[in-house]
Amino acid sequence: MMIPSLYYLDRYRNEGTRTYSVHADFTEAQQPYRPDSKHSRFALPSFEVPRDQMLVYTAHPSVELQQTYLRAETVLFCIHPQVLEHYPDDPYIKRTLSIGTPCGGIAVAPSSSTRTLYVDDDNPPHAVKVHFPFRISRYHRRMRQEVVEQAVVVSRELERAVGCLDDRFAFCREVIGLVHKDLQPETPRGENWGYLVRDMQPFPVAAAERNLVPGFSLYGTDFFEPATTPLLFELMGNKDPREFVLNEIMIPIIRHWVGCFQHFGYLLEPHGQNVLLEVNKDLDITRIVHRDLSIGIDMRRRRERNLPDGNLNAYNRMETDEFHSIVYDMFMGGHFFDRLVALCLEKYPNLQKEDFCRPCRDEFARILPDHEKYFPKTIQYFSEKRDRFGKPLFEDTGKAPQWRP
Ligand SMILES: Nc1ncnc2c1ncn2[C@@H]1O[C@H](COP(=O)(O)OP(=O)(O)OP(=O)(O)O)[C@@H](O)[C@H]1O
Ligand SMILES: [Mg+2]
Repeated sequence: MMIPSLYYLDRYRNEGTRTYSVHADFTEAQQPYRPDSKHSRFALPSFEVPRDQMLVYTAHPSVELQQTYLRAETVLFCIHPQVLEHYPDDPYIKRTLSIGTPCGGIAVAPSSSTRTLYVDDDNPPHAVKVHFPFRISRYHRRMRQEVVEQAVVVSRELERAVGCLDDRFAFCREVIGLVHKDLQPETPRGENWGYLVRDMQPFPVAAAERNLVPGFSLYGTDFFEPATTPLLFELMGNKDPREFVLNEIMIPIIRHWVGCFQHFGYLLEPHGQNVLLEVNKDLDITRIVHRDLSIGIDMRRRRERNLPDGNLNAYNRMETDEFHSIVYDMFMGGHFFDRLVALCLEKYPNLQKEDFCRPCRDEFARILPDHEKYFPKTIQYFSEKRDRFGKPLFEDTGKAPQWRP
């Protein structure tokens, strides 16, 4: 079997997966900019702007990416075409047009998250995650200054200390952040925005050629060929389904979640869209690649670890335990693992959900014995109420967790 490209799987092996919440399949993206459309690519407007007019964040970008996005005197600023068209009065669009020189469109294709765009120029493979203040699923997808900066700071910290995680852990580095300076200091939070450049070559860099498979594409239906066998079974081959799913997918992800939490206070969000399986030419899963470093950060854990937070800004700092449950019980357990289990039970009716949940609970308790100190007793999720910035509040579902004790 030939594994389709990441570009293909991310766009077209994702049918039927956005059912995990009432908002999951909602999008305000126009047809040409959606991943699940037949438009192969579009032009991303770019502008050369004076470097000293911008905020620039870096985490060891390759020379090639620096040459494209960061020059000595200027940087390349990108704006999603739907944003450019809909918000002509946005202060940062006006600012871009006044200080920048248009320099054409970059050929891009939408990834599964819609606002992260694969750049056609593949040297090295990379993506840009752009400001898209339209609602997709639950959120308006803004790239405000503190969000951009935090992702680059987290990338730098993780890159330096990746050796303390196990050797099946890899991630996509957020290597460049470019943001406008704040033109409205009177607003209650910085609304100045920009974008990120993401290196799509998993870090640490692997010696051999590998394929990347998004988590959801294991169970997602193909956009063009709905009868295609689920990728989960293609990769499983003749292996024992329970052992394969547990040992190759679930347990490593739980170890990565706990490792990132223990070492850095990071709250990874390993749902099917943020997790990529790295697969070698023999179809073995070699590593789990985590993308999307816009994560919550448990400051209680960082203080315990005596980790200086000097470079971190205020974005997504957590002092309480609700979000731990949202990402672990709901994003990873409910939105992702439950779907893998459902697919297995359909094909192997002698299996039971507990066959998967129990070993995961045991492993979680083994590697994080003091989990009760950090986690709430019951599952938390988003409420339909929002704060003044439109961020959903949390609520207690009262339900008992399944993927942890
Ligand atoms: N199967 C899926 N599970 C979860 N999210 C999905 C799935 N398929 C598509 N998506 C989309 O992916 C996005 C997930 O949100 P998330 O905050 O993880 O990503 P992001 O920050 O927008 O982008 P990226 O992951 O590229 O950094 C949403 O836009 C959601 O609609
Ligand atoms: Mg994501």
